Amino acid sequence: LADDDAPVTLSERLGLDAEAQALRLAFYGFGEADRAELVSLAPICDRHLDEYIADFYAHLLRFPALESLLRSEPGRVAKLQGLQRSYFQQMVSGRTDEGYFESRLRVGDAHQRLGVAPQWYIGAFGLILRLWLRVLAEETESREELVRRFESLIKVVFLDMSLALDTYILGGFVDRDKADRLERATAMAEDALRVKQNTERLKDDLSSMVVHDLKNPVNGIAMMVQLALRKGTELPEAHRGYLLHIDRTCREMLRLIQNLLEISQIEDGKMPVTLETVTMAEIAAEVALQSEPPPGESGRSLRVEVDPTLPPVIADRGLLRRILSNLVINALRHSGSSDIRVEATASPGEVTIKVIDRGAGIAPDDVPRLFEKFRSVRRSPSDTPIGDTGLGLPFCKLAVELMGGRIGVESAPGEGAVFWLSLPSIVTR
Ligand code: HEM
Repeated sequence: LADDDAPVTLSERLGLDAEAQALRLAFYGFGEADRAELVSLAPICDRHLDEYIADFYAHLLRFPALESLLRSEPGRVAKLQGLQRSYFQQMVSGRTDEGYFESRLRVGDAHQRLGVAPQWYIGAFGLILRLWLRVLAEETESREELVRRFESLIKVVFLDMSLALDTYILGGFVDRDKADRLERATAMAEDALRVKQNTERLKDDLSSMVVHDLKNPVNGIAMMVQLALRKGTELPEAHRGYLLHIDRTCREMLRLIQNLLEISQIEDGKMPVTLETVTMAEIAAEVALQSEPPPGESGRSLRVEVDPTLPPVIADRGLLRRILSNLVINALRHSGSSDIRVEATASPGEVTIKVIDRGAGIAPDDVPRLFEKFRSVRRSPSDTPIGDTGLGLPFCKLAVELMGGRIGVESAPGEGAVFWLSLPSIVTR
């Protein structure tokens, strides 16, 4: 549209052309008889206008929100009363032409701009009708005439009200107070999100620094210790014990570093995954072999009871081994249970493997946090969560989901825990 063709009047902006205006009047049942009826009310209106306007403002001023709006500028009430006087006179002019529509739309538009919420404005139309009813009851002789007059007034008031609502909607009226509160809440939420994103970025930076700066030295120490253990056959038993302890600690650190590294790889979408058919029994046996409880913790036992005839799953062999290994090590270290079992079951299209302990269990509040990054959950009062950064479970969740599987835990305090993971299986007949 060229500027000259752009709609200028409110009727044009609302698409309220002559046809639409006629349709509106028809729907409100407004006709020639109503025009005549309203014109006949003009002398009554004139006689009662002062008292009418006084009552109208007395009512509005009883409500503090409206009073402050009305008194926000000196002389506003007096000015308004003048404007309203002609508004009421137009109401009984019998005119419902284009100019009438436009004037009604303008008044509605003015109120929506002023921030007079629709509930006040509609209530004020109701008040107009009630004031009229009171006057007409006094001034009309027959009941039939009262009904006719009042019907015509209802039609014109509802017409005005509908036009006012059109402009409220056109203006996209928003309750200022509520909008301000919403805006403040949004700003607070955005701030919190920014702080959270910054913290996440800091954590990620820290993680990658830790990984790169720690992995090589720890690897170096581990290699030297293994060399010393292999070559140092004449070492005293106590020294061998120290070296074995260092070896275990190094492997533990490497496991954490590896988890951290893989979590960021998965998050960056850079984790290579090779899916193949794998049997759970095989993986469970390999994990059991690696995770035998170390000496000193020999009070704990690990039983693996996985049926080798279960359908194979589709998984990355290395990844699955590391997931299961994390779950088993967690149970051995943190459940406080002396007896850990690994079992598996098949359901259509899926095999589920479970790591079951009979330890202290997990508090219901802690369950949702278990798989979150950088959250460690204390599994028993004597457990030190510091011992593990909690990265094992977040890694497991990301890795299982990467292979199209699911992971979860079922537990109740005092009743042990069952960590389970399900992976898609080859369908066998
Ligand atoms: C159906 C009932 C109402 C009618 C017929 C009416 C009528 C009018 C008219 C004709 C104007 C002048 C509009 C213009 O500038 O073109 C006006 C303005 C205004 N009305 Fe109303 N009004 C009604 C309800 C209310 C209510 C409920 C409030 C609440 C406080 C209100 C507050 C105002 C204010 C603050 C102005 C602006 C006055 C100015 O220009 O300083 N009105 N009204």
